[in-house]
Amino acid sequence: MPRVLAVVNQKGGVGKTTTAVNLSAALAQAGQRVLLVDLDPQGNATMGSGIDKRTTTRTVYHALLGLSELASIRQRAEKGGYDLVPANRDLAGAEVELVALPNREGRLRAALERLAGDYDFILIDCPPSLSLLTVNAFAAAEQVLIPMQCEYYALEGLSDLVGTIKRVRSNINPRLEIAGLLRTMFDPRNTLAHQVSQQLEQHFGDKVYRTLVPRNVRLAEAPSYGAPAVVWDKASKGAQAYVALTEEILKGNP
Ligand SMILES: Nc1ncnc2c1ncn2[C@@H]1O[C@H](COP(=O)(O)OP(=O)(O)OP(=O)(O)O)[C@@H](O)[C@H]1O
Ligand SMILES: [Mg+2]
Repeated sequence: MPRVLAVVNQKGGVGKTTTAVNLSAALAQAGQRVLLVDLDPQGNATMGSGIDKRTTTRTVYHALLGLSELASIRQRAEKGGYDLVPANRDLAGAEVELVALPNREGRLRAALERLAGDYDFILIDCPPSLSLLTVNAFAAAEQVLIPMQCEYYALEGLSDLVGTIKRVRSNINPRLEIAGLLRTMFDPRNTLAHQVSQQLEQHFGDKVYRTLVPRNVRLAEAPSYGAPAVVWDKASKGAQAYVALTEEILKGNP
C-alpha cells in the first residue's frame, strides 16, 4: 500500500506546490513509484510538472465527481519521472457540486484506492484553504506534510490547522497524523525566522524536519521550464534541500 501524504497549509504561498513537485521528483529519482495529485484549481503543480492545464480536458475534477477513473486521467510527468493527476479551473466549481453528492468527503480516497497498487507514494498538493477539497485530501491521506514560512503569523495559522486535523481525526479519518513541519523559504540572516524556527522546535520537537529549505531563486524559476528544480538544476541549494528532505522521509524521520 502506498504512503499517502497531503501537503497542506491554508495559508497561501508558503511553498506547498514547490514542495509537492520537488518531493515527487526526488522520490522518483530515489526509485519510488510516485503519483502526484493536483487538488488546487490554480493548477500550479500541473504546470510545474510540465503539463499544460489549459489543454487538459480530464482532471481530478472528473474523478471527484465520478465522471472518469483516475487511471484514465493520470498523465506521465516525463521530466519529473512521476505520474500526475492534473487540475485546472474546472475544479473551482467542484466544491459546490460535491456538497450534494454522497460520501462528499471520501471521494478522492475512493478514487485513489482503485490504483493504490501502482505506487509507493501518493502526494496531494492542496489549495490554500481548509475547504471540502482539503478535507478530501485529509480523508485520503495517512499523513500531513506542512510547509511553512518562519514568520510572525505562522504559528497562529498552524494552531488552526492542527485543530482541523484533530477534528478530522475524530470525525472522518482516525489514523491521520502529522508527518512533519517543513520550514520553507528560510532566510538565515533574518532574526525573526530563527526565533520562530526555535519556537517550532520547542512545540513540535521531532515533528519538525531537520532539513531547512532556503530561499532560492532556482526553485522559483523551475516552474517556468515545466520541470521540478531537482531535475532542472540539481546542484542548486533549493534542489539539494529537497533531496535531503526526501532522504529524511525515506528514513522515516520524522
Ligand atoms: N524556497 C523557495 N525559495 C524561493 N522561492 C520559492 C521557494 N519556495 C517557493 N517559492 C516561490 O514562492 C511562490 C509560492 O510558492 P508555492 O507556489 O510553492 O506556494 P503554495 O503554498 O503552493 O502557494 P498557494 O497557496 O498559492 O498554492 C512561488 O512563486 C514559488 O516559486
Ligand atoms: Mg500551491
